[in-house]
Amino acid sequence: MSNFEPSAALKDLLRSAGPVLALTGAGVSAESGLATFRGPGGLWEGHDPMTLATPEAFARDPDLVWRFYSWRRTRAAAASPNGAHLALAALDEAIAEFLLATQNVDGLHERAGSRRMVRLHGSLWRLRCVRCQDEQDEFREDLDPLPPRHSCGGLLRPGVVWFGEPLPWESFERAVALARRARLVLVAGTSGMVYPAASIPQVARDAGAYVVEINPERTPLSHLAEERFEGPAGAALPRILEAAGIPVRESA
Ligand code: OAD
Repeated sequence: MSNFEPSAALKDLLRSAGPVLALTGAGVSAESGLATFRGPGGLWEGHDPMTLATPEAFARDPDLVWRFYSWRRTRAAAASPNGAHLALAALDEAIAEFLLATQNVDGLHERAGSRRMVRLHGSLWRLRCVRCQDEQDEFREDLDPLPPRHSCGGLLRPGVVWFGEPLPWESFERAVALARRARLVLVAGTSGMVYPAASIPQVARDAGAYVVEINPERTPLSHLAEERFEGPAGAALPRILEAAGIPVRESA
């Protein structure tokens, strides 16, 4: 659908009290100017994730890993939420039972106003001590000299999930629990390549949810979708919601 006109079934589901689950990936931040991971111009095209996003990479070269994440944090701080983030924040306000499960670590959903959300892959704005595991929400800007250290003397690492690491269990369980009960699941801006996050739409579909995908490209999750919007989420999501009578703010 190129005009982003939702079906009557989708409008009804959006006007209902829920439960509604949204799963997002890097594509929802593309229109904010942040690179996705895969595909042309993606972060993993120019950088090998095994040297930047694994516990082994951090053990080998914490300085390099920190420079990569500091660069991404600077980019994220300079970016603004787009229509996709704003639409998902509007859904959070409009739907009685709602959860946003994001793989994104950039903080743009939070800045757009999403409250009921789980961060499946952590956050660029958190720090964790590799020695005592203390987590810090307050991000320190003065990370020099790299790598930063916790007061216990241990190295501080970015509070994100790396390849080979488990997801924050409670967050993943919350998403799966809602997937099992959801009437509607919106899957936006994810390639559906990284598990276990990519398993969530299948769980929902198996339990009878109406799955909708918003992505300019087909993905391994496309076959699960009853309805697909082939276009950028920042343009499509506000149009879909507004067609269902849910107002979306123009800026955060
Ligand atoms: P990917 O980079 O794998 O996929 C981005 C998806 O967004 C692709 O399917 C694009 O077609 C789509 N896309 C691009 N522009 C879009 C737009 N304007 N609107 C909607 N969709 C758009 O990103 P993720 O699926 O998020 O994990 O990747 C999953 C995980 O892999 C990430 O969380 C990260 C990465 O490695 C870790 O770092 C552990």
